[in-house]
Amino acid sequence: GTGLDALIKGKGKKYVGFCADSGLLSNAQNAAILQAESGQLTPENSMKWQSIEPSQNSFSYGGADTLVNWAVSNNKIIRGHTFVWHSQLPSWVSNINNKATLTTVIQNHINAVAGRYKGKIYAWDVANEVFNDDGTRRSSVFSNVFGDWTFLDVAFRAARAADPAAKLCLNDYNLDYSGAKLTNFVQLVKDLIARGVPIDCVGTQSHLVVGNGAIPSFKTTLDSLASTGLEVQITELDIRTNSSPSSAQISQQVRDYTSVVSACMKTAACSGITVWGVSDKDSWVPQTFSGQGYALLWDNNYQKKQAYNGFVTGINS
Ligand code: G3I
Repeated sequence: GTGLDALIKGKGKKYVGFCADSGLLSNAQNAAILQAESGQLTPENSMKWQSIEPSQNSFSYGGADTLVNWAVSNNKIIRGHTFVWHSQLPSWVSNINNKATLTTVIQNHINAVAGRYKGKIYAWDVANEVFNDDGTRRSSVFSNVFGDWTFLDVAFRAARAADPAAKLCLNDYNLDYSGAKLTNFVQLVKDLIARGVPIDCVGTQSHLVVGNGAIPSFKTTLDSLASTGLEVQITELDIRTNSSPSSAQISQQVRDYTSVVSACMKTAACSGITVWGVSDKDSWVPQTFSGQGYALLWDNNYQKKQAYNGFVTGINS
């Protein structure tokens, strides 16, 4: 093939992937692009706690099954996303105030979901976004009830037990800048390893902004993450700008995609890159950042943008 996934595999990396879910898989234009360009899928929403266990012990697997079945039958590997996350969490979980109960609830949830997809998941985001931007531990039902980081021990051990073949990742955003968040993230991973918690990979979401000064030195971020000794994955890449960008912003976005992809290519530990969507039309960005968008590689009409060529340049760098 000639798509991004084939290109990056030809250069020794494992995958280029995209997020999707049932709606985007039944969209013919989107599905055709995934067929041609992708070697990996991440469920954008269907495996989140709110989606998959909305009330206790009542599992709703329809959306996740659709994604997994499509990926398996089309030879795409899967990143499972995500178990322990403060967001998209049903209130029956966030209202728990007892450590023993919460421990059992985490174990039961992970045992069920990781068990259902056992053998089909390349990597799981076992925990997501556990840091604040200043590098402190984020407040959540998990951190508040445990009072320390050991909710991670519970979650990673449960995931390893349920699907021993899956790589287990800690995932976060805004690790793209040198500072307390990146430093403390790396230290936490080293601490987890030191106390024998089963962790195999680190995920850096990489929701970036066109022209940000950290992008040209993105390799320093990846090198810091690689200092853990673990596999590094770029898990949710997009590079947003004005929804109606200037020609200068469009050109800068091309260079920025090249910089990020090139940094992965030059970092041995960086195994693959997931882009957080196909078409700008379906991106999360405009709903979250008013007036911003244009973050992905295909435009509102599923036509390749110049950013796609920037991605290719990065692979070939
Ligand atoms: O499906 C319902 C629909 O029935 C309802 O009518 C509509 C009204 O609000 O909401 C729909 O659900 C939305 C869902 O996406 C599916 O489209 C939620 O409101 C919306 O909040 C949700 O947004 C997702 C967001 O995570 C939730 O936190 C985005 O699609 C998804 O791209 C985004 O992904 C996250 C990663 O999981 C973690 N890292 C950051 C990244 C971007 O925020």
